[in-house]
Amino acid sequence: MSPFEAALKLAEVPPGSMRACVIGGREILICHTREGVFALDNICTHAHARLCEGRLRATRLVCPLHGASFDVRDGRVLGPPAELPLPTHAVRVIGDAIEVALGPLPP
Ligand code: FES
Repeated sequence: MSPFEAALKLAEVPPGSMRACVIGGREILICHTREGVFALDNICTHAHARLCEGRLRATRLVCPLHGASFDVRDGRVLGPPAELPLPTHAVRVIGDAIEVALGPLPP
């Protein structure tokens, strides 16, 4: 069985934008950048903020609460106060469908 599950339609996430959805009870953020479509956890690793309410600048995702930033390509921290990377998930686009294979839950 494929680990990929339907997330959103590509048309729902125009280039340069992001949108959250729920997969398997987990909030997932889909980011559509010039470098492709990426999926990450929607909750900041610093405190409980929804990153979909922040900003996406190219491949930099900025948290709305205290301004930590992450690279959406691999989840690494680009700016404090977050210290832990954001969990990322595998993405594939088939036609107009964005599908996500969830990675392991963070410890
Ligand atoms: S909750 Fe995201 S930086 Fe504090």
